[in-house]
Amino acid sequence: MSGVIESVLHELRVFTPPQDAQARFDDMDAYRAMRQRFDDDFTGTWGDLAAQHLSWSKPFSTVLDDSDAPFFKWFADGELNVSENCLDRHVAAGLGGRAAIIWEGEPGEVRHISYAELLGDVCRAANAMRALGIGKGDRVVIYMPMIPEAAVAMLACTRIGATHSVVFGAFSSKALHERIEDAGAKMVVTADGAWRRGAVHALKPFVDEALSWGCPSIEHVMVVRRGGNAVDWTDGRDVDWQPALAAQPDVCEPLAVESEHPLFILYTSGSTGKPKGIIHATGGYLLWGRLTMQWTFDFRPESDVFWCTADIGWITGHTYSVYGPLACGGTTVMYEGVPTYPDAGRLWKICQDHAVSLFYTAPTAIRALIKAGDAWPARHDLSKIRVLGTVGEPINPEAWMWYHKVIGGGRCPIVDTWWQTETGGHMITPLPFATATKPGSATFPLPGIFAEVVDGEGEPVGHGQGGLLVVTRPWPSMLRGIWGDPARYVRTYWQKFEGRYYFAGDGARKDDDGYYWIMGRVDDVLNVSGHRLGTMEIESALVSHPAVAEAAVVGRPDDIKGEAVCAFVVLKQAEREGLRTELRKHVAHEIGPIAKPDDIRFADSLPKTRSGKIMRRLLRDIAAGRDITSDMSTLEDHKVIEQLQSQGQERR
Ligand code: WT7
Repeated sequence: MSGVIESVLHELRVFTPPQDAQARFDDMDAYRAMRQRFDDDFTGTWGDLAAQHLSWSKPFSTVLDDSDAPFFKWFADGELNVSENCLDRHVAAGLGGRAAIIWEGEPGEVRHISYAELLGDVCRAANAMRALGIGKGDRVVIYMPMIPEAAVAMLACTRIGATHSVVFGAFSSKALHERIEDAGAKMVVTADGAWRRGAVHALKPFVDEALSWGCPSIEHVMVVRRGGNAVDWTDGRDVDWQPALAAQPDVCEPLAVESEHPLFILYTSGSTGKPKGIIHATGGYLLWGRLTMQWTFDFRPESDVFWCTADIGWITGHTYSVYGPLACGGTTVMYEGVPTYPDAGRLWKICQDHAVSLFYTAPTAIRALIKAGDAWPARHDLSKIRVLGTVGEPINPEAWMWYHKVIGGGRCPIVDTWWQTETGGHMITPLPFATATKPGSATFPLPGIFAEVVDGEGEPVGHGQGGLLVVTRPWPSMLRGIWGDPARYVRTYWQKFEGRYYFAGDGARKDDDGYYWIMGRVDDVLNVSGHRLGTMEIESALVSHPAVAEAAVVGRPDDIKGEAVCAFVVLKQAEREGLRTELRKHVAHEIGPIAKPDDIRFADSLPKTRSGKIMRRLLRDIAAGRDITSDMSTLEDHKVIEQLQSQGQERR
């Protein structure tokens, strides 16, 4: 990954797309024609697509309402229900027997859940939630492992108009508490525990701990029995999922909600302060989830088996493990455990056993599997795969080539999809049977998406130049705001270009052919294994430890994770044995294991300018072991640099 920036700038390989006359976009003319439709009639085209692809209980009459920009509204007077769109309409079309979810537990058991069964389960769960007092607009936090009940819980919320907020199951009880409080949730759905690396890991104790710190809004905790581990029980509050569902009828009228009704809140890290609760609305989000499944992956629900390896705790899991594939009436694969259990062939075995035809994962996973060796994929039949996807971070050309050759057998197009929690779905990506790809480039914006690379003044850069990535027109699956903090929404995304453009927070470059190359975050957000972490969050976690006086966190290039967390720490007392381990544990406890610093360096002080600003660029150079490129003339204390650099040498 360290060479990404250099190598992408010199990437000359171009791969022509395979031909497929059946593909939705079978060449660049088809792509240009669709773009042209949006150029000619922006709202008319979106309106046609929304009417054609979704089932509306009440049709909309306006497509885009920009009267309160940047608080855009899409299809605002229309009404629909997400679960009806994902389930009932497919069952009504005679597809009740088709597998909606193929689930594999880590120990190896497999469940095929048909559309008819899933609909029944979702209705029962919706009835059970309703019986526990959940109604339209109430927030339900879902803190679950990757088991089918997680998808059932999400869809059950949508059935009755509740807004879900999924919290990644590996987040700490602190992080869970913070999110429950911010969302003002009335219910938590969780599991006793789940399988990870050959053992059951308890989950419910984290919920108990989070609630012990006071979450007055919570009335009930529904608990799915998965791990079979013993858990504490609070009578009156805790409810067993299975018997609660069994007591309910398998019919529940879907509640039609306004298109703008908040479908879910998903927390993500920002450059400052606490995580942001990103709000997504019903109609626009679902439309784009379905369309991008068809456009980006060329999803054919009658014959494809789609597997997105993301956890439902992330936006990728929301849109491409659950809502996108189900809105299309296709089959989605879900896997409970770790990708390398019991060995590094597990993902490839799952692809083989379930005849996966579209496979979507993150560069960090690809890099880890490259390390494990080509023998693992070679042992499995991957011939059913026809499209490969990546997401979450820039993919280095070497990893792209391996994915192409070893997993795709040289025949499968790779779609490198750039998007964000905020965008709801893909924004910049190749079309698999149309776009000629270059390893490491996300290529071009999808039709309907007006993304640009601009300079600091907002002027588009020319071919061969770099700048900031922006979106110049609203799109249906865009975030609708930050939960409880509309001002932060405006400040974070719209202020930089005075309301003209959505500012993504990424740097990008256009090459001589106009291809987009995403260069990574330009703010203090880290991308660790495709997961977004705010440096401030980790700094706050470190400073909350009694031994720490001050901390600064930066990223440094890492071969597997993309970026590793490097912390510079000033202690209140002398360093003692075992403190590094203790601090790592502390951060895991405060945020979650993914935030654990890979590298901790102690110093007497942090390098600051005379005005007291921490010199982060300098710290990034030190962390990476690079020559220092920053201007040091404003540095207050030079000694500290040597101290920090020498620790790096000792530790390498
Ligand atoms: C950030 C968004 C979108 C789902 C996963 C992450 C980076 C995402 C790519 C890509 C280069 C990428 C960006 C973006 N990113 N996809 N294909 N190439 N960078 O969602 O946690 O909201 O993070 O991930 O920096 O801003 P997220």
